[in-house]
Amino acid sequence: MPEPAAVVVLVSGSGTNLQALIDACADPAYGARVVAVGADREGIEGLARAERAGIPTFALSVKDFETREEWDAALAGAVAAYDPDIVVLAGFMKLVGSTFLGVYGGKVVNTHPALSPSFPGMHGPADALAYGVKVTGATLFVVDPGVDTGPIVAQRAVEVAPDDTVESLHERIKVAERGMLVDSIGAMAREGFVVEGRRVRIGRLDPLD
Ligand code: GRF
Repeated sequence: MPEPAAVVVLVSGSGTNLQALIDACADPAYGARVVAVGADREGIEGLARAERAGIPTFALSVKDFETREEWDAALAGAVAAYDPDIVVLAGFMKLVGSTFLGVYGGKVVNTHPALSPSFPGMHGPADALAYGVKVTGATLFVVDPGVDTGPIVAQRAVEVAPDDTVESLHERIKVAERGMLVDSIGAMAREGFVVEGRRVRIGRLDPLD
């Protein structure tokens, strides 16, 4: 069996997406291994989940740096120590900058709780609910310099229920999001992937393409 792909996961909160990846990686056939977990703050459940799984962690807070650029470069350096094949932003509530993307561009994916290009930004579930859409969901995309604008790897649709609150809708989106993340990262790790303009292809190219 080939070496599993090395994955660094960055988190800011509860880390349920991270946990889904850690659990999937327990199966050697999955093809990936979480080699480190980083955060932009201390004391979060996401870091505790990593520690419980025996995965190395680091935390770099923007406020501990003179400039946002210095934080970004330090983050790139901390991630580089683990030489990842894929970097997963899983509920990481900071935009990575040009230094980070200069090193890892094309290998960084982010999960967003809405169906891009609708409802980018920090409040995807609330914005979808306020707009009154009947279907929303989750999007996994390759990070570019924009806010939730990168080429799309995968999407999962979630119906909005008439009595949904932001919390109930987000919880249902997160179930879909975790499944999407686990399926996509496994496929990317096992089969490889290529970004061609706005299209992300996983695995072997169709000979008819
Ligand atoms: C996810 O819905 C993510 O897309 C959003 O915040 C949530 C993080 O959840 N930005 P968790 O920390 O993985 O539980």
